[in-house]
Amino acid sequence: MTVHVVGTADQIAEGQHRVYEVSGRSVVIYHIQGEYYAILNRCPHQGAEMCKGPVCGTTLPSDVYEYAFGRQGEIVRCPWHGWEFEIKTGKSLVRPNTRLLRYEVVLEDGKLGIIL
Ligand code: FES
Repeated sequence: MTVHVVGTADQIAEGQHRVYEVSGRSVVIYHIQGEYYAILNRCPHQGAEMCKGPVCGTTLPSDVYEYAFGRQGEIVRCPWHGWEFEIKTGKSLVRPNTRLLRYEVVLEDGKLGIIL
């Protein structure tokens, strides 16, 4: 495994994300609540570019006829068919056994890298 430096942390403001090309792969790094998370820029359903999906929240478990919304900024919704994924874990909220492909992020001396 190799650390690929992609840029600097200050290139991605809190709540924003940025796409990098790393060894022929399109990778999205999200900056959420002070941490950085990297995913392959490809939806596991039919391959949409996840960077084009909104970062949002989702509906939470609630009683019948009650609708609770939460987790704002922690979810990315696929731009094609709307599947929602936890950015921090890559886990699909639609299909629990489906995940975004994630990469470990390294932050050192203000430089961002991912491990491939
Ligand atoms: S391609 Fe992402 S939900 Fe279908």
